[in-house]
Amino acid sequence: MKAFLIANWKMNLLRSDVESYCNQISLIPNYDKVKVVLSPSFIHMDIVSDAIKESHGISLCAQDCSAFHAGSHTGDISVNMLKEYACEYVIIGHSEKREAYNEGEEILSEKLERASEAGIIPIYCIGEDLDARQEGKVLQKLRQQIRDVGLQRVANSKAIIAYEPIWSIGTGLTPSSSQIEEVARFINDILPGHYVLYGGSVTYENAKEIASISGISGLLIGKSASDIHNFTKIVKAVAGI
Ligand code: PGA
Repeated sequence: MKAFLIANWKMNLLRSDVESYCNQISLIPNYDKVKVVLSPSFIHMDIVSDAIKESHGISLCAQDCSAFHAGSHTGDISVNMLKEYACEYVIIGHSEKREAYNEGEEILSEKLERASEAGIIPIYCIGEDLDARQEGKVLQKLRQQIRDVGLQRVANSKAIIAYEPIWSIGTGLTPSSSQIEEVARFINDILPGHYVLYGGSVTYENAKEIASISGISGLLIGKSASDIHNFTKIVKAVAGI
């Protein structure tokens, strides 16, 4: 199985940065062992979509999608619009969106359903805050985030789960390998057959170790993936080059 390496550029790159990244896209090696996925902002999907046509094996991911099919939803981007760019994956439920837009389980459930209907693979993010970690309520919190969106019902079996502890995102802190393994085992138990990724302060120094944890099928990378040289180091580290 290939390890997913998903570069979540968030809102960090301007058009000129994305063009420069894509002009150097051949730096990212194409190994059998890794599946590279790039997740730009909506308005840069055209650049990435064009660039990866030539770069075999790299896929496109959106950072979000609308909960609605089409119609009067100013500012929304539908899954059918994403498909126009040959987008294969969509991140749903990232903690930054949950928090900033107060996204609850009902809307996330709709988004998961839209993605699955369109044949776009949802990458559903779950993760506990520091309080839940300190109170020993991690698994309880994750179970709730999976159960409340009705994941088994709305998303097809291809849905990928990204475990992203909120206290780890952008902080330089990561859970221990055994803590990540415990979560991966837990998710694999309640959602057998779904890939589980880890995200939160992944760097090229820790990428290989985290990607090798039992039950973990890849990484969702923010800050360290917004620079192509750093991201390439991660790809090489995980591929064992
Ligand atoms: P980070 O972000 O790698 O910058 O911690 C990860 C994420 O939010 O997906």
